Amino acid sequence: MSTSPTVLPLNTGSSIPLIGLGTSPLTDEEVAPAVVTAVEAGYRHIDTAARYGNERGVGEGVRRSGIPREQLFITTKLDGVFQGDDRAIGGLDESLERLGLDYVDLLLIHWPLPQRGQYVSTWHTFEKLFAAGKARAIGLSNFKPDHVATLVREAEVLPAVNQVQLSPYTPRLAERRANDLHGIVTESWSPIGAGNDLLSAPAIVAIAERIGKTPAQVVLRWHVQQSLVAIPKSANPKRIAQNIEVFDFELTAADLSSIAALDKGPAAGVDSDVSGH
Ligand code: A2P
Repeated sequence: MSTSPTVLPLNTGSSIPLIGLGTSPLTDEEVAPAVVTAVEAGYRHIDTAARYGNERGVGEGVRRSGIPREQLFITTKLDGVFQGDDRAIGGLDESLERLGLDYVDLLLIHWPLPQRGQYVSTWHTFEKLFAAGKARAIGLSNFKPDHVATLVREAEVLPAVNQVQLSPYTPRLAERRANDLHGIVTESWSPIGAGNDLLSAPAIVAIAERIGKTPAQVVLRWHVQQSLVAIPKSANPKRIAQNIEVFDFELTAADLSSIAALDKGPAAGVDSDVSGH
């Protein structure tokens, strides 16, 4: 059976694996074995954040897995505590210390917090961290199109990714268009709906039954087939393995349009003009 690409190019010249392990809300103790299982199942991309409180466990899992560091793609994020006044410099140092690493592959501004007006100055600090090689790529999370436009106007280094809450219920078409315009890869958090009823939606179940895949695999295939990087969270070894087995089948155009009909509109998702940390 043919295999589709498992990575996507970034505007840094590097690439990002299309499936990564999401780690929120796993604790240090829970995440370390999940990372080991994921690496054994073929994952090379792990997503964490300072705010998740599990970077030590992620680092422990990476070491236990025995995989060479350079084969892994590790993302962390800095939340509002680290916005402004070059606070991200100390913030990343603390994250690296917890992870036991000397660089991350991707560093994200976790939330724009537009009411504070600090995301552009924070971005300039991120540019310094990129230049220093402590973050091999820098990007955004939860940025809406107008936040992206404001940041890009001031940026010397363009964001490599924008990670947003995105699933068939909340497909974020406007965000994807804005990201595409600037060559920014869109990443999906809560890609399989974070435990809502997406995986039992009749349109998803019907496709899964027809092609002999699970509903989660259908939804994750929907992401990667549209060049969306997805970071499903699971602590269950079987589901961790299942979630990366999405590169040996394709959804048809009819499948994609029946999934498109699940769109609940922008109001169904988080609004980062009013929420964030
Ligand atoms: P679990 O950790 O027990 O596997 P998201 O990444 O969209 O936020 O979704 C995470 C939720 O989906 C978790 O509750 C996780 O539970 C569950 N989950 C992860 N993978 C699968 C799967 N393949 N099938 C069903 N549920 C899954």
